[in-house]
Amino acid sequence: MDPHLFVLFGATGDLAAVKLFPALYHVTTREGAPEPTILGVGRSDWDDARLQAAAVSSLTEGGVDESDARAWAEAALRYARVTAYDDLAPVFDAAAALEEERDLEGERVYYLALPPSAFPGTIASLGEHEAERGTVGDHVAEDAPWVRLVIEKPFGHDLASARELNAIVHEHFPEDVVYRIDHYLGKETVQNLLVFRFANAFFESAWTRQDVERVEITVAETNDAAGRAGYFDGVGTLRDMIQNHLTQLFALTAMDPPARLDAEGIRSEKIKVLRSTRTARPDAVILGQYASGPDDPEGYADHEGVAEGSRTETFATVRLQLDNWRWQGVPFILRTGKRMPARVSEIAVVFRRPPVTLFQTSGGCDPTPNVLRLRLQPDEGFRLSFDVKTPGNGFGVSTQELSFDYEDRFGAFPDAYETLLADIVRGDATLFVHGDEAEEAWRVYSEILDNDAIEVHPYPSRTWGPDATETLIQAPPTEEVAASDDTC
Ligand code: BG6
Repeated sequence: MDPHLFVLFGATGDLAAVKLFPALYHVTTREGAPEPTILGVGRSDWDDARLQAAAVSSLTEGGVDESDARAWAEAALRYARVTAYDDLAPVFDAAAALEEERDLEGERVYYLALPPSAFPGTIASLGEHEAERGTVGDHVAEDAPWVRLVIEKPFGHDLASARELNAIVHEHFPEDVVYRIDHYLGKETVQNLLVFRFANAFFESAWTRQDVERVEITVAETNDAAGRAGYFDGVGTLRDMIQNHLTQLFALTAMDPPARLDAEGIRSEKIKVLRSTRTARPDAVILGQYASGPDDPEGYADHEGVAEGSRTETFATVRLQLDNWRWQGVPFILRTGKRMPARVSEIAVVFRRPPVTLFQTSGGCDPTPNVLRLRLQPDEGFRLSFDVKTPGNGFGVSTQELSFDYEDRFGAFPDAYETLLADIVRGDATLFVHGDEAEEAWRVYSEILDNDAIEVHPYPSRTWGPDATETLIQAPPTEEVAASDDTC
């Protein structure tokens, strides 16, 4: 890792407190890491001491010893206040002064943990400043320091706004210095999808329409939108979870093996998947909003800050279809919701049953299909269900599981943000979203976003969502191309 200045826009916000300070602490205290210099930027009337105190309390809450946290914060953190995000003179002055004081060579990470409305102005100001410094633009010197622009989600709110934002980004920065964050890509178990699939030829050969009946990707959350209505209301689950996190899981599950294990290799395969995904139709989606339940007197509509009569969805199931050789006719079902009975994220690959049923379960039913469940969180690991003979006369069948538990074998993993921050500083964009990918992901949902014709079903808090969901999952697979007598 090169010594560098890390400029954190949004340093007074929630993401910084909950995720970024702990991740920065753990990455910068790794053996061999350079001394950290972090310039926090915000509009609040804070100073260095206030920023350091905020970081110390977030670190100690996460289990860091108080004196270590304080020593780290005092050495690493400085604050620059701005009044508007398109006037960054105070940031550039503070950055230059810090670089001089600490003998840094000008390498910079700009991390934008900002509300989306602040992106265009900030990116344009940073771009102009960096062009003047000669790190981007038409006159980049060979020995110019590197600069990296990190953009937190949401990247736009629909296809048109994502295109506009990409246009602004590309007016100032080349794609290869842009790091669009989807923190799901930093999760160990999500990266393990690649290893699991491409290091085990056994599964990979069954990973096609010949053997797979459907794939279900579920991210069930127990948390809700209370206290976050200012961000969540009007945004909803399609934008907050489906377009990014679940779509990334979908793309990693459906993609072909990359030619190389690098940013270009992986991202171009994911983009191919998204390009062959049909735009989801309104009849392929179920939306829901949690109402009160026996343990939760307050439903979504009752939260402070939620607009009266809000149609914002807190649950969505979307059935995606791909037109490609590997997956034609295999539905991918993406499902996520808040205030569910349990927190669980998993990818279930449901294999086809044998073409002829020879055996029945002990209860007299047809055998269940083999299901491979890749558990992303919690209890990370996988389980594969298969049928065995129940002892005794005849051929009774019972379903059993082979399983593997990640934590049992390897212990706890680093937080996703830690992995992503280390990759940014090392200049590895493999786990970040390419601009084309972000646009394609919006295109897939373009007909179901803000579509008032789609009903938003209420579901009681702590249930698995609206009943209609099961119908969508069990619906027969994609209409196959109709047989025809025409010859050509
Ligand atoms: C965030 C969403 O991006 O991801 C939240 O804005 C959601 O609404 C969160 O709860 C889920 O992340 P994780 O890592 O807890 O699964």
